[in-house]
Amino acid sequence: MFSILAIESSCDETAVAIIKDDKLLCNVISSQIEVHQKYGGVMPEIASRLHLENIGVVLKEALDKASMKIQDIDAIAFTRGPGLIGALHIGLQAAKTIALFYNKPLIPVHHLVGHIYANEFITNFEFPMLCIVVSGGNTEFVIMNKDLDFNIIGETLDDAVGECFDKVARVLDLPYPGGVYIDKKAKEGEHKFLFKSPHADGYNFSYSGLKTSVINEVNKLKMKNIPYKVEDVAKSFQDVAIDIIVEKAKKAAKEYNVKMICLAGGVSANSYLRQEMSKAFENSNIKLILPPIWCTTDNAAMIAKAGVHLYKAKVFANLDIGVDPNWKIEDFNKF
Ligand code: KG4
Repeated sequence: MFSILAIESSCDETAVAIIKDDKLLCNVISSQIEVHQKYGGVMPEIASRLHLENIGVVLKEALDKASMKIQDIDAIAFTRGPGLIGALHIGLQAAKTIALFYNKPLIPVHHLVGHIYANEFITNFEFPMLCIVVSGGNTEFVIMNKDLDFNIIGETLDDAVGECFDKVARVLDLPYPGGVYIDKKAKEGEHKFLFKSPHADGYNFSYSGLKTSVINEVNKLKMKNIPYKVEDVAKSFQDVAIDIIVEKAKKAAKEYNVKMICLAGGVSANSYLRQEMSKAFENSNIKLILPPIWCTTDNAAMIAKAGVHLYKAKVFANLDIGVDPNWKIEDFNKF
């Protein structure tokens, strides 16, 4: 057996985790969320600086918690992309430094592969499997026929669903990260507004029209001083944003004859999505994995979990590797 130390720094969380013999020994996360909240979104420059300040401390805490020394680790995994370029660089440089100094193999991990494998903390995978990846930067339907096999069957043609939640939250004067607050407000609202569906051909999505239709409606109400309930806008928006995902998931599950479905990424924390997916598959023989909430936000445990599969498949990088902010999941082993 072997141990993996993983580093995640793709956005606003500096995180280090260690897995040994498939057991998670530690999962340390330093979140920058309070700093970015002041700006209503992540400020890339500030994110990079904070990663730089935090990485050493988080690394030390992780090793202390796991009662391990870097010498005892077998390989270093790190998030190579997608993400913010400056933020990714801090994780890359930390991983490279350790790999060079202690002569350890380096494992580049795709951030969304990490989000998908976070579900292995719940149960082992059964294939074919449909992975519904819904985050701040991505909206993808991915079919896996075996481990480390990712086939995109549909994706957003413009904005990601999480980005759409965040922009709608902003026009409603809700704090960052908007998805969390829309989810809360929607619970007390009624579906009173008619917004554009994010439907696109096949398993694709288009969230930019929905975003614009909500922003235009709210701005119109504000300008004309017409009173409205934030809760009703949130509910009307969330229903349209999520229902289409559930509808397409039902179709894809049938077409690809899947045994299992998992949710992955920040938006998989959405309570309405979880409720509707559970309802849609409760009387079927398809197993639905809902990731625990701690796995829906960025962490290094998921990078370590993906790292275990990559280690076994000997997916290692040379020390001249760079980051890729736009890395495609299908190219997870190309760098
Ligand atoms: O996975 P993540 O950190 O994004 C990327 O790595 O790209 O997810 C962050 C996104 C944000 O857009 C946030 O608003 C959204 O996930 N989010 C939610 C919820 N919690 C977080 N969206 C809807 N409902 C939630 N409960």
